[in-house]
Amino acid sequence: IDVMLQPTPALTLVAIGGILDLYVFLGPDPESVIRQYLQVIGYPMMPPYWSLGFHLCRWGYTTTNTTRHVAQRMHNSKFPMDVQWNDLDYAAKRRVFTFDPWRFGDLPEMVEEFHERGMKYILILDPGISSTSPPGTYPPFDDGLKRDVFIKNATGHILIGEVWPGSTAFPDFTNPETRHWWEDCITDFHSKVPVDGLWIDMNEPASFVQGSVEGCPDSDLENPPYTPTGVVGGQLNSGTLCMSAQQKLSTHYNLHNMYGLTEAYATHSALRKVRGKRPFVLSRSSYPGIGRFSGVWTGDVRSDWEQLRYSIPAVLQFSLFGVPLVGADICGFGGNTTEELCVRWMQLGAFYPFMRNHNDKPNAPQEPYVFGQKAQAAMRSVLNLRYSLLPFLYTLFHHVHATADTVARPLFVEFPTDPNSQTIDRQFLWGSSLLISPVLEQGAVDDNTCLNKGQYLLLPAPLDTINVHVREGHIIPQQEPALTTIASRRNPFFLTVALSAGGWARGDLFWDDGDSLDTFEMGNYCYVIFISQVVSDPVRLNGALDGLVLGGLQVFGVPSTTSLYFSVCRPQKDNDDILQISVFVPKNQTVLSAGLCVCPLPQVLTVTSLALPMTKVFTVQWAL
Ligand code: GLC
Repeated sequence: IDVMLQPTPALTLVAIGGILDLYVFLGPDPESVIRQYLQVIGYPMMPPYWSLGFHLCRWGYTTTNTTRHVAQRMHNSKFPMDVQWNDLDYAAKRRVFTFDPWRFGDLPEMVEEFHERGMKYILILDPGISSTSPPGTYPPFDDGLKRDVFIKNATGHILIGEVWPGSTAFPDFTNPETRHWWEDCITDFHSKVPVDGLWIDMNEPASFVQGSVEGCPDSDLENPPYTPTGVVGGQLNSGTLCMSAQQKLSTHYNLHNMYGLTEAYATHSALRKVRGKRPFVLSRSSYPGIGRFSGVWTGDVRSDWEQLRYSIPAVLQFSLFGVPLVGADICGFGGNTTEELCVRWMQLGAFYPFMRNHNDKPNAPQEPYVFGQKAQAAMRSVLNLRYSLLPFLYTLFHHVHATADTVARPLFVEFPTDPNSQTIDRQFLWGSSLLISPVLEQGAVDDNTCLNKGQYLLLPAPLDTINVHVREGHIIPQQEPALTTIASRRNPFFLTVALSAGGWARGDLFWDDGDSLDTFEMGNYCYVIFISQVVSDPVRLNGALDGLVLGGLQVFGVPSTTSLYFSVCRPQKDNDDILQISVFVPKNQTVLSAGLCVCPLPQVLTVTSLALPMTKVFTVQWAL
């Protein structure tokens, strides 16, 4: 389908046929349009907490020992990282569901070692199933044949294309039997190699021959009266299967765009069953609704500054499409990166909802530890910043999952009435409260940041700096970073509070075990609201307040089942009704006093025994 946006404004759709279901979402504002759209296509899945950590991958980790070495060097250099990946290198003759006995013979042991260290492991899984192994030697193909799971050509024979392993057949995921077969393959493989997630690639589906190894019939399906202008190769079957190929549900012509979606669905549900935990799937191909099952990366981007810049609109578009878990290959996939580009890309990538550094086979290495000390320090610092922000990021994902919000948010979604916001694609928000302004130009040491009502400021941004601003009126829940999320999740929380001009601020925290299924749906989580209502800022003193203290306060309307979390507290009795409170003091001041609050009455939060000098700045914060 060609979609042309015209300045009039007008939208022209040129479709090659089929059934068109047109929905018009009236909004009226962009946020409502997204929500209405997601009500149709489905709300995004809740990702596992660990998947928000740092992922490291490349094509060319050729053995288990190379892979171990990479993870070890990341650890030794104190870079936070949760997930080690392998590309096709692991598979015997690039055939999925196998692992090379020589180079990856101890893959199961390696995965166990990663698990023992609190890390996760993911590998690539292409849909193309090698069709040329001798009968009886490759169960995925033999079984698939028996169970009739593969896409057929126009004459009813299995369609053979060509992908990384050579000749391949393509599973038809619209067939329920295929999904069972796929689940069986995953179950069997997982019993040997306990992967934590799956990376589904080449699922457009991509093929290196046009249509099939035998070509395609000459028909209207292959050469319709009109071919959309953007089609790669100028023909519908270029780089993919014949349009006349047959799937259970319909011809490939009707289903082509949904191949990745159907594979993501099958993979998601297989992982859910096999692991009994929240699935992680990353897909290259996408279609409306895929966010329910999978994250998406933006494919094979080049290591250059232009692609660094384009990655922002790419990520933001997927936010609008209901795929919040999205990122580009950090430092670029194709071609050699440079140190400066890689630092800037790690800084931007630390604010991709999905953060993975991935590299193509022939290229110079780009793992953080290969660079000079200054570059490493910059990367380490932004990784630590991301890890400290994970409680906040996770909470944003909860809101997307529960209410169809966005994580990475374009400014025009948040400020729809500000015309300046409409064209900003070099900055973006996390939720409504963090503004990210990365450096996107080679050699730049400052960046032009749109901060407020169309006002631009030039702010310093030397190589070790990415500008991140907290919006007024917001409280960001954070945690001390660590080298993995298993460790960081045990560290103390802290809050970054940015009071509004009116002296208030608000934030929240969604918290569960990070990995169990359906925690929100089952009510199996904590939710903490932070409100900063009581702030005392003595901007003018005349001595009349000397010696006087704030002794307590009361808040009406809190739920009776609340509990509170704080870093400073002094509970006096072991009593469920006692809620703890802390006194947060600006960095350059000291703690004046701490107290406790009791709620003798349901829905009334009473804070007593405070002794806060009225002459000092203080904030009393509580969390439900
Ligand atoms: C595709 C993927 C890329 C991967 C490569 C080898 O090009 O997009 O990420 O590394 O295949 O599997």
